[in-house]
Amino acid sequence: METIAALQLQFEQYLRENPIQGKPQSLYAPANYILSLGGKRLRPVFVMLGSQAYGKSAEEAIKAAMAIEVFHNFSLVHDDVMDKASLRRGKPTVHEKYNLNTAILSGDAMMIQAYQYLLDYDDPSLVKSLLDSFNRMAFGVCEGQQMDMDFEVRNDVTIGEYLEMITQKTSVLMGAAIQMGAIVAGADAKNQKHIYEFAKYFGIAFQLQDDYLDVFGEAAQVGKQIGGDIIQNKKTYLFIKSLELSDDDQRSLLEKLYFTTDHGWSDADKIKAVTSIFKDLHVAVYSNEIIEAYRDLALSHLAACDLSEVWKERFTNFVNNWIFRAM
Ligand code: IPE
Ligand code: IPE
Ligand code: MG
Ligand code: MG
Ligand code: MG
Repeated sequence: METIAALQLQFEQYLRENPIQGKPQSLYAPANYILSLGGKRLRPVFVMLGSQAYGKSAEEAIKAAMAIEVFHNFSLVHDDVMDKASLRRGKPTVHEKYNLNTAILSGDAMMIQAYQYLLDYDDPSLVKSLLDSFNRMAFGVCEGQQMDMDFEVRNDVTIGEYLEMITQKTSVLMGAAIQMGAIVAGADAKNQKHIYEFAKYFGIAFQLQDDYLDVFGEAAQVGKQIGGDIIQNKKTYLFIKSLELSDDDQRSLLEKLYFTTDHGWSDADKIKAVTSIFKDLHVAVYSNEIIEAYRDLALSHLAACDLSEVWKERFTNFVNNWIFRAM
């Protein structure tokens, strides 16, 4: 059984040896640029692990893993446009390095390429099952991303709505990744469901930690601009919980900085003030508590899978390592 690091390397090598080809270069170079910047490669590893756990090889799942990672990177190219982000994996984002129109079109081509990999499976019924999972996921991601943007200009987002939004924009991709691996391996419906739910709840915890790192992470490790979510008025758990716990002074400052556009504060001052309120209210502690609750929910679905104890331990270590991460 390979280690996670070995699977990451195996995927990395496949990606390097199979760049997206085509002309004009100006369309495909940005796709290969973003894909070459690395990242954690968690989703393709999930696909490969899903296949191995249910009895097939990582190799047999590599095309599905490519579909998932290329789709993930496509969503990041467009996400960085929507979030006005200039840094990704420590390097300029696609719309910064090239331009906005290129980011839109290269992203579109990447999404089409993602589907193309799934056509490489010979068995039509397998392709149909993969597409079914993939399309459900892709709609979910778009829906979650739209909610995320809608929430930027709302002042009454609840924690429940936030959790629904991150379930769609982030978790369903984790779920589909591991489910597609399980599909390649021929897992039954019950196992597909529980392994999907396992990865979905992991994904919720994963996004909560991403939102935490956006405020409290180290720029050099995170590879994104720290405070980007604060600048964009993102309604994260940290923000919603802070509004709930704030005293009158803190609340009126948060409302001024997030709900008005003519407050006159610079981005840097806004980040500093909001971060300091988050710290004073200890919202990171609450965030950690719900991260652990979602981790436990994930593990309860893992327990319901017909997998050996060795595999369950492997997946448990995986989620514990990757939820409480610094990057
Ligand atoms: C970034 O995902 C988008 C989120 C859902 C938070 P990752 O943090 O997995 O990004 P990479 O692929 O490792 O760069
Ligand atoms: C991204 O959420 C989710 C998707 C790309 C679909 P974020 O906007 O928080 O991701 P980062 O922080 O830019 O990686
Ligand atoms: Mg973003
Ligand atoms: Mg975003
Ligand atoms: Mg983020």
